Amino acid sequence: MYRTHHCNQLRAADVGQTVELSGWVASRRDHGGVIFIDLRDREGITQIVFRPESYPDVAKEAHSLHDEDVIRIEGKVVPRLEGTANPKLPTGEIEVVVSGLTILNQCAPLPFQLDANLSNEDLRLTYRYLDLRRPAMVRQLKARHILNRTTRNYLDREGFLEIETPILSKSTPEGAREFLVPSRVMPGLFYALAQSPQQYKQLLMVAGAERYFQIAKCFRDEDPRADRITELTQIDIEASFTTQEDIFRLVEGLLKEIFAATREVTIPTPFPRLTYQEAMDRFGSDKPDLRFGTELVNLSETFRNSQFKVFRAALDQKGVVKAINAKGFANITTGQIEEVTNLAKQAGAKGLAFIKVENGEWKSPIVKFFSESERKSLTEKMGIEEGDLILFGADSWETVCIVLGRLRLKVAEFTKLITDPDELKFLWVTDFPLMSFDPAENKWNAMHHPFTRPKTEDIPSLEQGEFGKVRAVAYDVVLNGVEIGGGSLRIHESDLQQKVFSALGISEAQQKRLFQHLMSAFSFGAPPHGGIALGIDRLLMIITGTANIRDVIAFPKNSRGQDLMMDAPAEVTERQLRDLSLAVRRA
Ligand code: AMO
Ligand code: AMP
Repeated sequence: MYRTHHCNQLRAADVGQTVELSGWVASRRDHGGVIFIDLRDREGITQIVFRPESYPDVAKEAHSLHDEDVIRIEGKVVPRLEGTANPKLPTGEIEVVVSGLTILNQCAPLPFQLDANLSNEDLRLTYRYLDLRRPAMVRQLKARHILNRTTRNYLDREGFLEIETPILSKSTPEGAREFLVPSRVMPGLFYALAQSPQQYKQLLMVAGAERYFQIAKCFRDEDPRADRITELTQIDIEASFTTQEDIFRLVEGLLKEIFAATREVTIPTPFPRLTYQEAMDRFGSDKPDLRFGTELVNLSETFRNSQFKVFRAALDQKGVVKAINAKGFANITTGQIEEVTNLAKQAGAKGLAFIKVENGEWKSPIVKFFSESERKSLTEKMGIEEGDLILFGADSWETVCIVLGRLRLKVAEFTKLITDPDELKFLWVTDFPLMSFDPAENKWNAMHHPFTRPKTEDIPSLEQGEFGKVRAVAYDVVLNGVEIGGGSLRIHESDLQQKVFSALGISEAQQKRLFQHLMSAFSFGAPPHGGIALGIDRLLMIITGTANIRDVIAFPKNSRGQDLMMDAPAEVTERQLRDLSLAVRRA
């Protein structure tokens, strides 16, 4: 036998038992001939002791052990000596005196110490199988397991069927750039890796599946960012004969169970809601972080007749003047002001006017343009007090909201507005615009995807070509400023779908070529339906408290999209290329 117990199991009550344990040598300490080893397996650590006075041969062999050797031992559970118990370890009251040792495998010199605080992530990823032995990473693997298990149990109870959909799919303009896979059998033709099961799940509703879910792998050929990866996993959900309220209740219940299982906390439901319009207006973001205030305040009325040309010009062009009050941040350094100004400019601002309130004085080059009544109104609306820093935006509504939304987050970071690392602030953002205009391409794009349902009362605007006014029955679920999920009710009528495709500039010929399956399915009795997808990777980042999305994935790609352990992507042989009728064009 390899083991009678795992390494996190033995307690004071087990003293006197003879046990067998297997695992890795996590550390070795030699105390004048007596050798202490921390034996580690997936579950934890047990201290084992080699005593030369009791078992001289075994103790001698223990001298040759190195870190990460794999061993099996047998021995007797004894209490630790008075004063040597380790309250930090669940097994800390006992140790095992070894009477028999088998070395199952030896470990070569390690590329890095497993207990070290590793800063070289490429090294960790190259030897991911070593990195994953670290208890912090084992906790990551377990958190994902618990999340998946909880999800399956909950959705099963709610009557959802887990159905797998293809990964090799067809390229369609759904949003992200796709990974393409050449067909060998049909030279010159390509599959696309599914960027989400969106169309399949809708077709399952047409098929009468009624309630579907999948823990789905999705592939998006985008540049990886802090919380954006190319291979993501979603809890993908779709239901027929459903309403937005049904979906909110379902997802709130699911998240409640997930946080109870993984974090042992009860999250309050229902979640608060903000429309997209309100979220942008008050927080400058469609995924507002509600762990702190610092809301955007509209000052357009205050400065309607301003002598300050920047404000006046923005207002004359139907724009707005808004500001945030960075409370107590008048002591901002010159370097920080520069950083904040650059951030504002990156977000689209032409400049950044500000006021520092120090020693009862408003320090700012722009104050001289303010009238007494403007000062008074500003003080009231912003709640200005000694020590405050006021940051202004004057431009179109959208630009000002986006700029101040970014500054709001930066100010929160600088002034440490988030004090409780365990705080969880959920909300729904609803009523997203159906489309957004891209001036670079001079065309309208779907804000979510082209299958999203416009609000019934806004369909006339769609028909009249006033696309900017059309809201969708689309929603995101947001946690601590992170979009953890998004979905919508869908279009289930061919004629409405056609109108939306046309508005998005997808010609009739393209509609036929790309979406014939969907249009034809909708003509055969498609039920009303809708759904959502939750990003498991982002959820796990918050659950496990890591800022690095790669930590929550067993075998992630690095920031350049490489799998350093497998050394992928890699070259293939001429023969393989020929089979696929491909040639590589080298620049
Ligand atoms: P969407 O594209 O909004 O919707 O994705 C849903 C959720 O998946 C997560 N997510 C990501 N996580 C990490 N890296 C990425 N690159 C990434 N992209 C998305 C986010 C996001 O909220 N088919 C629709 C859903 C639907 O309408 O039902 C979809 O995929 O948490
Ligand atoms: P100017 O008159 O252009 O020198 O600008 C005076 C102050 O207003 C400077 O601090 C600018 O950074 C700031 N400013 C300029 N344009 C804007 C804008 N659109 N929104 C907010 N502040 C601005």
